[in-house]
Amino acid sequence: MKNPHRARLRVLLMATCLAAGAGGVAPGALAAKAPPARNTPAPPSDAAVEARARALLGQMTQAEKVGQLVQFFYSGTNAGATTSDASAKPYDADAAIARGEVGSLLLVTDPNEVNRLQRIAVENSRLKIPLLFGFDVIHGFHTIMPVPLAMAASWDPKVAEAGQAVAAAEARAAGVNWTFAPMVDITRDPRWGRIVEGAGEDPVLGAAMAAAQVRGFQGSYIGAPGHIIAGPKHFAGYGAATGGRDYDEVELSDSQLHNVYLPPFKAAVDAGAGNIMSAYMQLNGVPAAANGWLLNEVLRKEWGFKGFVVTDAGGVLSLPRQGAAASPEEAATRAINAGVDLSMEFPGKSPMLSLVDAVKADTVSQDTLDTAVLRLLEAKIRMGLFENPYVDPKAYAAQIADPAHAQVARTAAERSAVLLENEGGLLPLNAAKTKSIALIGPFADSWHDTLGPWVFTGPKPTGVSILEGLKAKLGTKVALSYSPGVPVPERIHKSFFDGKVNPPVPLPAFDAKSEFDKAVALAAESDVAVLVLGEAQNMAGESASREGLGLPGRQQELLEAVIATGKPVVLVLMSARPIDLKGARPAAVLDVWYPGSQGGPAVADLLMGDAVPGGKLPYSWINSASEAPYSYDFMPSHAPWGAATRYWDTATSTPRYPFGYGLSYTTFAYANLAVSKDTIAKGASLDVSFDLTNTGKRKGEEVAQLYIHQRAGTSSRPVRQLKKFARMALAPGETRRVTFTLTADDLRYWSAATRGWVEDASAFDVWVGGSSKADLAGEFTIAP
Ligand code: BGC
Repeated sequence: MKNPHRARLRVLLMATCLAAGAGGVAPGALAAKAPPARNTPAPPSDAAVEARARALLGQMTQAEKVGQLVQFFYSGTNAGATTSDASAKPYDADAAIARGEVGSLLLVTDPNEVNRLQRIAVENSRLKIPLLFGFDVIHGFHTIMPVPLAMAASWDPKVAEAGQAVAAAEARAAGVNWTFAPMVDITRDPRWGRIVEGAGEDPVLGAAMAAAQVRGFQGSYIGAPGHIIAGPKHFAGYGAATGGRDYDEVELSDSQLHNVYLPPFKAAVDAGAGNIMSAYMQLNGVPAAANGWLLNEVLRKEWGFKGFVVTDAGGVLSLPRQGAAASPEEAATRAINAGVDLSMEFPGKSPMLSLVDAVKADTVSQDTLDTAVLRLLEAKIRMGLFENPYVDPKAYAAQIADPAHAQVARTAAERSAVLLENEGGLLPLNAAKTKSIALIGPFADSWHDTLGPWVFTGPKPTGVSILEGLKAKLGTKVALSYSPGVPVPERIHKSFFDGKVNPPVPLPAFDAKSEFDKAVALAAESDVAVLVLGEAQNMAGESASREGLGLPGRQQELLEAVIATGKPVVLVLMSARPIDLKGARPAAVLDVWYPGSQGGPAVADLLMGDAVPGGKLPYSWINSASEAPYSYDFMPSHAPWGAATRYWDTATSTPRYPFGYGLSYTTFAYANLAVSKDTIAKGASLDVSFDLTNTGKRKGEEVAQLYIHQRAGTSSRPVRQLKKFARMALAPGETRRVTFTLTADDLRYWSAATRGWVEDASAFDVWVGGSSKADLAGEFTIAP
């Protein structure tokens, strides 16, 4: 039988591979949706879904209704699990499901366990309403993709879409109906560990990646076979955590919110996301789970979001801790009135159950309660759970064995790598001349770190380390020696996740002194040293902020000792932050992020030239942590002349590498910029065209970027803003004429002066090029 989901996946895979080949991605194609799968059953109409949900609602008691608004963490069997409150009585979650007090579970990822729990809901509860299973499918389920920040570094939304489509297919087959992803929080502070989960610092790149991931997860409609509901998070502003300290409060101006932090959420909603997760922290003093302005006014009224809102884990119960409610009952009332539908919780007596009394006391209206319940019922109806509550473990086994999935992961890892330095064209390594390679570093043979942070409680992950990848690629042609040199650095503070779920996998024990010396000696004996350094996978992600951006542990010392051998050094960086190399200058630096299951083969291909790096930085690579927060789109100051030397005690205050930067094994040139109209009226569009030429000797891919600056306006406007981009493959010597269209949507912004969206009459600068330093310039004017 034809599997429609597979057909769609192959279309996406082909699109990704084509883009990697001579075809490239036409600029217009970036906005194009993947074609809907053939033979896919049509979704039921909105009216049919609502009618069915209302009919069910009509049969529900108040207690059954509030039960639908509760989602429990469920790991293994929770019978007897306690809440985070040590004094609470053990709680039997299975019995609560049978009583209809739980509508959804998270963290169940085994198909047999999904079926067991679903059976309790479907066979033992009075109304037989199935459970909705949610999970953090962040960068893969069984096949692990490069982390989302890496996907953003590909500047190729199709890569992100294809990766999340694979993740969705595997998760759905296991019985997961909904993911708490994509994380679309903009951040400009790399100390914040969750930078790894998002798309970096820019709203335009962030919006493109947000929409692409929603399409990948959900397919062409909510409930499409092989797909799951997407839940963009954390609404909103979480990435601006004060000092980069996870969970701490966020103070953001309305202008920053509307122009920078909200656009990726808006793009995700426009792409049809079925869920939104509210953030934990206070935004301008109001905890996100109680922020009625954000949830009811912006999300629902302004943007027309029709799905359900879930809190972040324990978000309702944290309202009293955050000083925003006097009791758990008041917290539940505040949250639902603010627009929350579902409360994610540790198992225990849910505060949401108290909403029965809140309706009696008239602090919550019957309509508010019913509307929240309807939204959850509609999600279950759309996912087909009433007809098909169970999954087939055999189908799951077949799904994760599909070799196409590994290919998607490998292509994504290759396309997300960013080449930062390549002195003397050291990379790619010359297979004919390189007789020996010393592979060094604590992450060179650590498949676990190669996977990245959100490899959580799902199926036992596997991955191929860089050592394994290189060994397989080189065979006996090149002598490959290996030493970790130094141990994997350890976190000072254990995180909530450490030791509980997929704990760090230590390297085999070795003697620290002799291994360090051995690594340096191997480098000295070899033609080239390849160091794989960076941050352990648990140094990024939730609750994993860092105060500094240096290489943790003794890695810096190792790097300097290897450089001191005088051998050519390639540094492969595995991290999700700009790393401060403190003046050490390896000849070549390749940032591979956390490249996922297929990281080993992908990095081997990149090093040996069978893949050409074409990724670009999704953030400004600041010199050190003390420059955070930073973004390239700052406002022009009254003293632009000193902008590069703002600090008394460092030589520069400009980033080491600009936003959008990345080298290739070939070179590109931009020329002949033409703006289609000198002057346009408000609301009109114009085209910006230019020639892009591959001036080198190899085929390669370039991400052409277009930036604008509005010279005068109701508010000051940033010195530069990315507006368009396209990744294209070009043959050596090939020139392509590229056209980007700027529309009124690209030229308007939210102004604090008028407290609304404006399109000003003004002169504009426009630049195109291969980074935010693009210097091929033009101009145009919006007439008054
Ligand atoms: C995180 C969310 C995540 C949730 C469930 C929370 O602590 O902030 O991003 O989805 O846990 O795992």
